[in-house]
Amino acid sequence: MNANTTLADKFRSMDYGVAPEDASLAVAWLDQFGRRFGHFIGGVWSAPDQGQYFETSDPSTSDKIAEVAQGSAADVDTAVKAARAALKGWQALTAHTRARYLYALARQVQKHSRRLAVLETIDNGKPIRESRDIDIPLVARHFYHHAGWAQLLAQEFPGYEACGVVGQIIPWNFPLLMLAWKIAPALAAGNTVVLKPAEFTPLTALAFAELCIEIGLPPGVVNIVTGDGSTGEALVVHSDVDKIAFTGSTEVGRAIRRATADSHKKLSLELGGKSPFVVFEDADLDSAVEGLVDGIWLNQGQVCCAGSRLLMQESIAAQLTKKLQARMATLRIGPPLDKTTDIGAIVARVQLERIEGLVAQGVAEGASCWQPDIPLPSRGLYYKPTLFTNVHPTSVVAQQEIFGPVLAAMTFRTPAEAVELANNTAYGLAASVWSESVNVALQVASRIKAGVVWVNSTNLFDAASGFGGYRQSGFGREGGREGMREYLEPAWFRKAPGLPQSAQTAAAAVADPGAGPAAPGTSAIDQGDGPSIDRTVKLYIGGKQVRPDSGYSIECRSSQGVLLGEVPLGNRKDIRNAVEAAGRAQQWSSATAHNRAQVLYYLAENLSQRAQELVSRLAMVVGKRQASKELKLSVERLFSYAAWADKYEGAVHSPPFRNISLAMNEPVGTVGVVCPEAMPLLGFFSMVLPLVTAGNCVVVVPSAAYPLIVGDLYQVLETSDVPGGVINMVTGQPMELTKVLAEHDDVDALWCYGDDNLCATAKRLSAGNLKQVWTNEGRQIDFFNERYGEGRWYLEHAHQVKNIWVPYGE
Ligand code: NAI
Repeated sequence: MNANTTLADKFRSMDYGVAPEDASLAVAWLDQFGRRFGHFIGGVWSAPDQGQYFETSDPSTSDKIAEVAQGSAADVDTAVKAARAALKGWQALTAHTRARYLYALARQVQKHSRRLAVLETIDNGKPIRESRDIDIPLVARHFYHHAGWAQLLAQEFPGYEACGVVGQIIPWNFPLLMLAWKIAPALAAGNTVVLKPAEFTPLTALAFAELCIEIGLPPGVVNIVTGDGSTGEALVVHSDVDKIAFTGSTEVGRAIRRATADSHKKLSLELGGKSPFVVFEDADLDSAVEGLVDGIWLNQGQVCCAGSRLLMQESIAAQLTKKLQARMATLRIGPPLDKTTDIGAIVARVQLERIEGLVAQGVAEGASCWQPDIPLPSRGLYYKPTLFTNVHPTSVVAQQEIFGPVLAAMTFRTPAEAVELANNTAYGLAASVWSESVNVALQVASRIKAGVVWVNSTNLFDAASGFGGYRQSGFGREGGREGMREYLEPAWFRKAPGLPQSAQTAAAAVADPGAGPAAPGTSAIDQGDGPSIDRTVKLYIGGKQVRPDSGYSIECRSSQGVLLGEVPLGNRKDIRNAVEAAGRAQQWSSATAHNRAQVLYYLAENLSQRAQELVSRLAMVVGKRQASKELKLSVERLFSYAAWADKYEGAVHSPPFRNISLAMNEPVGTVGVVCPEAMPLLGFFSMVLPLVTAGNCVVVVPSAAYPLIVGDLYQVLETSDVPGGVINMVTGQPMELTKVLAEHDDVDALWCYGDDNLCATAKRLSAGNLKQVWTNEGRQIDFFNERYGEGRWYLEHAHQVKNIWVPYGE
């Protein structure tokens, strides 16, 4: 602005000067440490084992800020030992005492909020307005909220125990907030922690370590080890870690899934996204434009849930694009510490180059790239807000997470087309839907596959509302009750004994002597000494009995070796057909809960009617007593889940804004189920029913000890109004079929009951599409006891929670 500018000119242009935040508190703190930091282990600072440090720099200037320790495997080991040593003492404290520590952390974060905000901004490059008004207040809120969970732990999670020592690995985009999302629930649940911050942004985690000292947190409860990916890897593979919680790229998430497969580590992954921002023609377009400023330019677009795909209804596309471009031209890119800056610096050169590379690919693919004519600072890592139009849905800029200030716009005509485009991604983290029609907005929100949907709003977060993804955005939730569950396990399950290598032997041990002393190789039917056996069992796919692809079958024998019949040897093709049939039956998820309950009651009725026949066949393998018990409890289990169908409900959260968030329980989709051998009937129902109750469709591999059960079950299913494709059954070698299910990209989750080897295989091979895998961890579950064999624990795994944020007020 030149010297002749009048006040009236200034008023008209709304131009303003610089308003830098005072960094002196943060600078003094850094200087106090001589700008060199060790690890925080066992309550004290310690130098790295191998004496190596690396630099962390200010992305707005590229100047070095400080040196931090490069953690080795030995450092990680020391930290894990410290966490293990602290665990007993931490758990011995009363819930109230733990709550007081969390409360004290919240207070301390608030007291030091200014210093923390500045540190975050200089280390990460995000505008001070964001770290001051969004990140740090949310950090404090997270600790307050979780002080509450710590206090209520026994009342709200009876029978649950903490996992133990938790390894946590966080990214660089919201460094302190991600720390809070990890540490607060872990401590509230009674775990101790080793956390590794991202290599680009370690400083606020170290500042947090100091807060732990200040409040007198018992040594070893929180340990911070700095370093790069290799440090993270050492934590992931450490044998004395009970759980890993990770936020970061999908690629590393996949590596962690594989690396933890052979262990019993519990795992939660919060990964990337390519979230749709859907604008309907009746939306308030000016508000939608402001929403986009938050949606894609918050934190320079380096946000896992950034609204990076703009889907506009065709009728308003031109108008919205024009408004958006006008707004983009007013965004201020500049020094992050300036309180008037809208867009700060990109975190690191490698990230800037990644953005540039992906944008260049988008241009090469023919999309139109537009950037406003606004100045960039002469130094530092900056990138202009960027809008792609004329984008093909398969283009790299529409499919890949760019993690930068780059928006890819596409158009749609109808709500159905909007949903199709929104779901045309491997991810499923978040979505934003803009319409003044509550019907349209909620209908579309319910159909988008994403863990969070914001209606007429975007990028809202609260400690009480779970956050996390569908599909390749990961599994597990952070925040709220769901988030607490990630750090807890049923106490009985942790202590359950291991499964014998061959559970078939267990079934044989209880076999009914009445089955007759036939010699191995003889047939019960040939001898005429037992009830007649259906020897022509087929696979059950899409509501039909079908022959297997291979044409081969396998024998099913009683415990004495009597041939009971033959079942098909299912293969990859049969599983593929079954998965397709399950995919076609997904309307089951939109059946009302009352309808699903009716079907389950009807199933119970029909199962009861066939009780005698079924029990007499099953008895040949498991003995009369067990067979009768399995039948009786299966009928009860059907009643239980019919009861749960309309009672396992979501919640309504009231975050501290003018919003409600609706926590909806949604089915996961198509789920593979590998049943226990030793309880052919009860095991089948115990695993299948919670899934079907939740609205999932299943592909089931029945008990290998008595796969003939399929013949009995399909008759019951056919007479009970279970829609074709909801329950599909493929017999064969469990390990082979498990592998196919685990590798199948259209299987959304896999429930597996078997020995350690089977469970590990399922987890390892699931990394491709990052499906949720839930196993018995090679342990025995007593399905005969309803306390262990049914209920909420199963239903929790059969659902995924979607939070739909709905604003209210003018
Ligand atoms: P990253 O996934 O490599 O890093 C995240 C964290 O994981 C860091 O602490 C890192 O040191 C650690 N890490 C790296 N390799 C590891 C391994 N093998 N085992 C254990 N820990 C490991 O992400 P990066 O390289 O910083 O960013 C690359 C891309 O990832 C971004 O462009 C973005 O697309 C995506 N990303 C997504 C995030 C999200 O919140 N969803 C956060 C950060 C990055």
